[in-house]
Amino acid sequence: GAPVKVNLAKIESGQQIIAEWRGKPVFVVRRTPEILENIKQLNSRVADPESAEESQQPSYAKNEFRSIKPEILVLVGLCTHLGCSPKFFPEVKPMEFDQEWKGGYHCPCHGSKFDLAGRVFKSVPAPINLEVPPYSFIDDNTLIIG
Ligand code: FES
Repeated sequence: GAPVKVNLAKIESGQQIIAEWRGKPVFVVRRTPEILENIKQLNSRVADPESAEESQQPSYAKNEFRSIKPEILVLVGLCTHLGCSPKFFPEVKPMEFDQEWKGGYHCPCHGSKFDLAGRVFKSVPAPINLEVPPYSFIDDNTLIIG
């Protein structure tokens, strides 16, 4: 499939847009400093905090925030359990599925949870982190997926 261009100027702080690449949804989020701070606090609750599973991100996204630029998150929007599309819940407030919720993704099919770096929480059906697709930037406001 051809690479897909995404205009980042359209994404509000703390919000997500969904692009499409190779027939898959791709989540693109503009993360706030608060979101980045919350990610650091979740290391003990996620199954693969250091992105050890090599299949789930390019080498340039194997870092603390699983991204090239900390503020821009890019994820294939398919649950690593059975492929449903997880829902975006960026708000930091108790949720019925997690009283200490700090924002992230919740899969409606069987309840898997992921943080705002796409890292899977422990003890959910999904076995590994959400996939980071190959991507690059051609300028400050233009992301290329693929
Ligand atoms: Fe997401 Fe099963 S497909 S939890």
